[in-house]
Amino acid sequence: MTEAGAGTDLAAKTKASRAYADRARRSLPGGVTAGVKYFDPYPIAMKKAKGCRLWDLDRNAYIDYCLSFGPLILGHGHPRVLKAIRDSLESAGTTMFGAPHELEATYAERLLRIFRPDGKMRFTMSGTEATIHAVRLARAYRKRPMIAKFEGHFHGGVDELLVSYTPSNEEVKRGLVPISGSRGTPDSVLKNTVVLPFNDLDETEARIREHADRLACVIVEPVERSYIAPDPDFLKGLREITADHDVPLIFDEVMSGFRVAFGGAQHAYRVTPDLTCLGKIIGGGLPCGAFLGRSDILDLADPATGDFFHSSTFAGYPMAMAAGMATLDELEKPGVFDALLKTTRAVTSGFEKLLKDHHVPAAVPALGTVFSILFTNHAPRNYRDTLGANDARRSVLDTSLLTRGIFVKPGKPFYLSTAHDEAAIRQTLEAFEESLPAIA
Ligand SMILES: Cc1ncc(COP(=O)(O)O)c(C=O)c1O
Repeated sequence: MTEAGAGTDLAAKTKASRAYADRARRSLPGGVTAGVKYFDPYPIAMKKAKGCRLWDLDRNAYIDYCLSFGPLILGHGHPRVLKAIRDSLESAGTTMFGAPHELEATYAERLLRIFRPDGKMRFTMSGTEATIHAVRLARAYRKRPMIAKFEGHFHGGVDELLVSYTPSNEEVKRGLVPISGSRGTPDSVLKNTVVLPFNDLDETEARIREHADRLACVIVEPVERSYIAPDPDFLKGLREITADHDVPLIFDEVMSGFRVAFGGAQHAYRVTPDLTCLGKIIGGGLPCGAFLGRSDILDLADPATGDFFHSSTFAGYPMAMAAGMATLDELEKPGVFDALLKTTRAVTSGFEKLLKDHHVPAAVPALGTVFSILFTNHAPRNYRDTLGANDARRSVLDTSLLTRGIFVKPGKPFYLSTAHDEAAIRQTLEAFEESLPAIA
């Protein structure tokens, strides 16, 4: 298979993807199985992957900076992960039991050692299910309906968690009012949601105090989109104010859990939430999520003593447990995570230097193993700041990178893996430099 040649026209190179999109649109709205996978004029459809590389239907090769929106931190088809999946299947003789099995407690004990040694947890099939149940648990604990969430923060495709996820420039002019995140959201959801401004501790405190008697929880991405860092005292302040009012604080670390640092933002910033949501990497590339935290709250989910509902046909999927543990085994090997952080820095500092050399004003906000590029003069501190960025320039960059064999989901962050080697980084920086004249 061949590399997508630099400077060639994307449409000319991706005719099979175009034909596939035309066919898929007849059965799947937009030709995709999830809105996030769509981009204009049609998404590139893939056929094969290995390490940090993807090959599309036209046999073009790409270096993958999407990594299935984050989970594939070891790259595609890591031998240790594939072996764990095969071994699990062979030893069990089935894909699943529909009953408890030993990997569940083994993996739970391991994740709790990392995140909450005195706590408890439950597995889910996705990050969304993890946040749904964390919020339900908080409501069960506080016996109240209202929740607070931050503008611009994503917690999965649930009506109430989508509120004010991507308000437009026009909508934010109305202030911090709850904005529906999807057509079909009932008004009652908006009435029960308080919207908070990330990295504005005074306003956040004021809003939490104002609604303290009605709030069941505050949910936050402790690192916004996993690349916008919290101010030094922001998470500590948030912890204090929520503790003052006994309002459970939920850290959604579905993305940040093993990307911002091994052990997530709570490890990096030394702030312990009441509840934590995990996903993405903990399934090693198979569907898996988890919610964990204080035992007194998690015990509400004990079916022997309570009536809290959490169930799922596929939760605790044996192959996902095995793949997730194999992934953590690899990440915990001495030097592996540090090397990944170094690789990420090599890309971000390379991008920053090239932007400077070519006099292109842009910010490259980065944390851990995730970064983004925003065509703006100021490093963003929260969602509102990102609204000032020039999206048209970003779109030109994304198309140019795709044309040159660098796979980034247009407009989305870049994720790194341990499979990104020196050759891949060199090719990425070359493609980036070649793209800049069209943007400058
Ligand atoms: C922070 C965060 N929370 C929740 C989710 C939802 O996870 P899933 O797509 O596995 O349902 C995502 C997915 O991107 C996420 O980034």
